[in-house]
Amino acid sequence: MILDHFSGPRELSYNYLDIAFSPYDDYWKELRRMCVQELFSAKRVHSIQPIKEEEVKKLIESVAESASQGSTVNLSEKFLALTVSVICKAAFGLSFHGTVLNNNSFDKLFREAFLFLGSFSASDFFPSGGWIVDRLTGLQERRERSVRDLDAFYEQMFDLHKQENKDGVEDFVDLLLRLEKEETILGNGKLTRNHIKAILMNVLLGAISTSAITMTWAMSELTRNPRAMKKVQSEIKNQIGNKSMITLDDIEQLHYLKMVIKETWRLHPPAPLLVPREVMSEFEINGYMIQPKTLLYVNAWAIRRDPETWKDPEMFLPERFMDNNIDAKGQNFELLPFGSGRRICPGMYMGTTMVEFGLANMLFQFDWKLPEDMVVKDMDMEESHGLTVGMKNDLLLVPVKYREH
Ligand code: HEM
Repeated sequence: MILDHFSGPRELSYNYLDIAFSPYDDYWKELRRMCVQELFSAKRVHSIQPIKEEEVKKLIESVAESASQGSTVNLSEKFLALTVSVICKAAFGLSFHGTVLNNNSFDKLFREAFLFLGSFSASDFFPSGGWIVDRLTGLQERRERSVRDLDAFYEQMFDLHKQENKDGVEDFVDLLLRLEKEETILGNGKLTRNHIKAILMNVLLGAISTSAITMTWAMSELTRNPRAMKKVQSEIKNQIGNKSMITLDDIEQLHYLKMVIKETWRLHPPAPLLVPREVMSEFEINGYMIQPKTLLYVNAWAIRRDPETWKDPEMFLPERFMDNNIDAKGQNFELLPFGSGRRICPGMYMGTTMVEFGLANMLFQFDWKLPEDMVVKDMDMEESHGLTVGMKNDLLLVPVKYREH
């Protein structure tokens, strides 16, 4: 079932649906509370700011090198590498970008996991016989291989972790392993090794591609819309002046940049169908009775391009957020980049600061142009497919350094 609009008073209907379709027991509640406290809180996000600064500095240096040679930069790859490094260092105390594990590069492992998570699976729709179709299409085999590889990756990461984490500081993985060892009860169950892997999987998949996808779409929309590009760069230049790098505090003054990001999320939600829900108890919507166990998708992509809600929905117009209070925190259902309700993205604050910080610095340090042989109308804005949706083909731009320090 796909929900692409809400009838009746929106808040009421969504709250009612949320209770009916978001699995949420005491164990889950406790686990989520712990993750939010340990990994996603504003305090934690501020404490990892030096990691972000270090990684953004490295990114600036590598882009500056391309700028000095007049060569093209693959921004899709650069933004992905940035988020992999920041998230892995923040969550695991280690960086895996470029690492080869079990003959598989870390990046490939996760791309593959994303692809199969978002692919059509017949067994989701036909539980009794769909698995035969999944076997015939090869999906089942790929899925099993991917799960095996990921499992091996986690085990290897736990080992590496034990060796490398000698500084006595307990990070997120240490904490989970300690809770497992102490047989801590969370809600009504113990934290097992499998649960730890599932939590890490959720964090990695939730965190990595979403932030990178947002930055890439934002840069491609700005390149297609030189007026918006000029405006956002002027704002940054005027507000920041001569500093060598933008800080997290500076971002608060960058109102147009924030509008650019919201507009990017409106046109290109990184998770267009949010995360699938399973109906817990029977409920009625638009005269249809929906039965327990029905798989339910919220079509956030369609909601954000609805002409009844948005004027000129296909146009990239950051100014549309100037005179309203629409934010991305899950209360305005016309814009749900982080979902809403009980399963709303817990990494919302971390994701937003990552995107703002990465983009602001790339726009502050460089001007950007298309490769020599390309004009705006040649830009390929086709979407990829999967649980998260980025650009199908990588974004290649030429940086022009306009700041000298
Ligand atoms: C721009 C960045 C991000 C976007 C657009 C985004 C978007 C989303 C969306 C749409 C969901 C599903 C919510 C729903 O179905 O209602 C989600 C779930 C989740 N996100 Fe994010 N996310 C981002 C960054 C992050 C970061 C940085 C982290 C972790 C550090 C993270 C961790 C998670 C987790 C663990 C879930 C699953 C929550 C659950 O199942 O209850 N996300 N995210």
